[in-house]
Amino acid sequence: MGEVNKEDYIWWKHGVVYHLYVRSFNDNNNDGIGDLQGIIQRFDYLVQLGIKAIWLSPIYASPMKDYGYDIVNYRAIDPSYGTMEDFKELLALAHANGIKIVMDMVMNHTSNEHPWFVESSASLDNPKRDWYIWKNKRNGKVPTNWRSAFGGSAWEWDESTQQYYLHSFLKDQPDLNWRNKDLHNAFFEEIRFWLDLGVDGFRLDVINYIVKDEKFRDNPFIKWGRPTKDRLYSRNRGSSIKIVRKLRQLLDTYEDKMLVGEIYTPPPGNNATVINYLGEGDNALHLAFDFSLIFRFWNAKKYYKCIETWENNLPEKAWPSYVLSNHDLLRSYNRLGIGRNKAEKARIASILLITLRGTPFIYYGEEIGMQNQKIRRKHIKDPLGKKYWPFFSGRDKSRTPMQWSAEDYGGFSSVKSWLPINRNFYRVNVEVQENERNSLLSHYRTLIILRNNYKAISHGSLNFLQQGENGVLGYTRIYEEQEIYIVLNFNNSKRTISIPNDESWQILYTTHLHEEKTCQDFIELDKYEGMILLKIE
Ligand code: GLC
Repeated sequence: MGEVNKEDYIWWKHGVVYHLYVRSFNDNNNDGIGDLQGIIQRFDYLVQLGIKAIWLSPIYASPMKDYGYDIVNYRAIDPSYGTMEDFKELLALAHANGIKIVMDMVMNHTSNEHPWFVESSASLDNPKRDWYIWKNKRNGKVPTNWRSAFGGSAWEWDESTQQYYLHSFLKDQPDLNWRNKDLHNAFFEEIRFWLDLGVDGFRLDVINYIVKDEKFRDNPFIKWGRPTKDRLYSRNRGSSIKIVRKLRQLLDTYEDKMLVGEIYTPPPGNNATVINYLGEGDNALHLAFDFSLIFRFWNAKKYYKCIETWENNLPEKAWPSYVLSNHDLLRSYNRLGIGRNKAEKARIASILLITLRGTPFIYYGEEIGMQNQKIRRKHIKDPLGKKYWPFFSGRDKSRTPMQWSAEDYGGFSSVKSWLPINRNFYRVNVEVQENERNSLLSHYRTLIILRNNYKAISHGSLNFLQQGENGVLGYTRIYEEQEIYIVLNFNNSKRTISIPNDESWQILYTTHLHEEKTCQDFIELDKYEGMILLKIE
């Protein structure tokens, strides 16, 4: 697995990325909504965490039907988040601290209020008609059987021009037509705008959706056991990858930029599709999220399988990236803790995330163990929650305000926040954990410092010595002379591992307190203990 990588420091490979959900991070102007000045105010926290890049959730002007994933102006900051001046201030501050800024870029769709769509819907012969996907009725009905990812038909009837338009998500998010050259060129100019401004990369939203089947064939029905046929013709068409490659060429005309793609295909762990978007490893996406760990039960062997599959299938020049949660899914702290021992499992999972070969993405609040908050119906903001209540309450539960302190409103704001703060904020918060040596926050900080200080962890090769037998994962990370050994006990009981060849290891870090500082012959692991060891002989 994973050959030694001798390249020098590359921020998007070796550093840790912080996924910052702007609306919920910190409210500076006290309107209950997080904003750019709020991030600036808390910037020291990010610096101290040791992260090297921030992925900002969408901050462009938007009617917020899907909280920023419906954009009306790709070159403007939404007033609820601040101004372009605020953005430039944040960018400069980040760069002065050696931190990169990654923007969320939504290429599949715009808001239906975007001037392009307003023009496109004006008449059949409008020059921008073909910038979106319009179709006539088929036998008096919808043009294809395609379903929106958010439920219902993906087609919406437009009374005035008597055609349907396609929306793979909400009807307020019409899909762009990437087969149209003018749209393609116009959109690349929007991206160029941000590159010229100095942003360092983009997280590409649902990038595998952007090009659809040229013949608009019906999707085959999903049969159990064959879920990969899901949305066969409405996403993952080869031409999407061609556009990604073109985008990569644009980025490569700048220095040190990065693209990370969201390609979510069931079943998670079937990463063949995802890997296609990495091209030969140096000519398409730089990174693609691997969501598979998120969908595994707490089981060392299953975790190993995910990592092994990902590592074995990646093109030689490509680089993995791992994530435990995001703004669309449940918080990892809750998910891991099905059963008990949430706190212990969160620590083990984070060691894995931060010490594997690959780029770790941390979802804001994960570092203090923020949990899902049950949202009452009247507080639901997510359109999915509104639509599917009570069967599904939506994604708000993992988007609640950052818990800074035990003050009113958790230190996030001085007024009621846009989503209710988690009720546990008075005990789970940054202030409490900041000075506690054994807090989850201190643990994350230490892990990130170790990653930043030991090239074996950030750059090294990966070799598994314990592949989940007896519920233990153990792997070495080696870079030149430096050798690190990471052992993780997934069990609620002790384990002992023997060390081969009379080697001697110094304990750099352990989740538990020990008297001895070195290990020889064997390593004794407490229940849910994780250790990071450095070879000394
Ligand atoms: C992505 C985003 C999600 C959004 C959807 C539509 O999956 O992560 O939040 O709703 O795309 O843009």
